[in-house]
Amino acid sequence: MQVCKFVAPEIIFGAGTLSQVGKAARRLGASRVLVVTDPGVIAAGWLEHMLPYVEDEHLDYAVWSTVTPNPKDYEVEAGAAYYQRHGCDALIALGGGSCIDAAKGIAILSTNGGRIHAYEGIDKIKRPLPPMVMVPTTGGSGADVSQFAIITDTTRRIKMTLICKSLIPDISITDPLLLTTKNAYLTASIGMDALTHAIEAYVSLAATFLTDVQALRSIQLISAHLQASVDSMENLAAKDAMARGSLHAGLAFSNAILGATHAISHQIGGMLDSCHGELNAVLLTYVMEFNLRTCPTRYASIAEAMNINISGMTALEAGQCAIVAIRRLARNIGLHARLADFGVTEEMIPILSATAMYDACMATNPREATCEEIAALIRTAL
Ligand SMILES: [Fe+2]
Repeated sequence: MQVCKFVAPEIIFGAGTLSQVGKAARRLGASRVLVVTDPGVIAAGWLEHMLPYVEDEHLDYAVWSTVTPNPKDYEVEAGAAYYQRHGCDALIALGGGSCIDAAKGIAILSTNGGRIHAYEGIDKIKRPLPPMVMVPTTGGSGADVSQFAIITDTTRRIKMTLICKSLIPDISITDPLLLTTKNAYLTASIGMDALTHAIEAYVSLAATFLTDVQALRSIQLISAHLQASVDSMENLAAKDAMARGSLHAGLAFSNAILGATHAISHQIGGMLDSCHGELNAVLLTYVMEFNLRTCPTRYASIAEAMNINISGMTALEAGQCAIVAIRRLARNIGLHARLADFGVTEEMIPILSATAMYDACMATNPREATCEEIAALIRTAL
C-alpha cells in the first residue's frame, strides 16, 4: 500500500478575489506588510488596484518592486534588508513566479538570517517564516502554492532550488481577472511552464494518487485552453481555465516534485537569464522522448488527457503522439523550438549537464540519467 502525504496552502480562487488580500493578511496577524511586486505589475495597474484592499484593513505597508525575472541572490538580500528597515512582519507577493520566489527568499532571511545560498536544497530552513499571502498575476509558476523557491546564484550562475514545507504560503489568492493584462508571449511561455509542471509531476518517481488527479486535470485544462488564452487577452473563460490548470499543476508538482526538464532549464536560466517557461517548452518533449520507454503507460495517459484518440495504439505510440502534439502546440503559440535560439552553444553543454545532475529536480525524474546522457539530450535540443 502506498503511503503518501499532500500539502497545500489555504486557497482562495475566483474572479474578483483580489479584494480578499487585506482580510487574508489581517487574519494571519499582519500589522505591517511588505508588498513584493515588479514594474510590469505596477504598469498594468494591479498594485494600485490592490492597495486599497490592504488599507481597508488598516494595515501599514511598504512596497518593494525591484525584482527582475529569475530573481537574483542579491535582490533577495536587498529585499530582506528593506523588510527589516521598514519593520515588516508579513509579506504579500503580487506578481509572477519571480515576485513570489523573491518574497519567499525574503521571508527565509527575515527569520533565519545569513545568506540565501545557505538554504539551497531540501529542508534547510529551520525557523518558522512570517505570514505569506501570494497573489499570482501570471498563472503558471505554481509558486503561490508550492514548497519551492528558485533563486539565481549570480556567482555560480546557476539557479538554486530551495525546497521546504515552510515555503508553502499561508494563503494563495488566484483571481483569473489578473491574467487579462498579460501579452501573448507571456501567456504562451508561462502556460507551457504550467504544462511542464503537470507532466513532470505525473511521471515523477514521487507521484501519488493525490498528485495524479491534480496533474491529469491540469493537462486537460491547459492543452484545451492555452491556444485560446494566447489568442485573446480578454477571453475570460480561457483565463479561468488556465488559472485553474496552473493551480492544479502547482499542487501536483509541489508534492510530487519535477524532473529533468526543470533540472536542465534551471541551469540554462541561471547561465543565460532566459525565459523559464519558453526554455521548458523546448526541453519538455526531448525529456519526454528520453523517459518514454521507462513509463510508457503514464505517457499514454497524458495523451488521453490531451484528448488525443489513442484507441488501437500501443502505450509507446500514444506517448509519441503526446510529444508531437506538444511540439505543435508550442509552435502554434509562437515559442522557440531549439536551445540555440536562447544562445546555448556546444561549449556550454559540459557545465550545463554537470550542474543539472545536482539539481534537486533530477532525483524524481522517472529514468535515471548519467551526465553523458543529459549532455546528449541537451545536444539533441540545440
Ligand atoms: Fe517551472
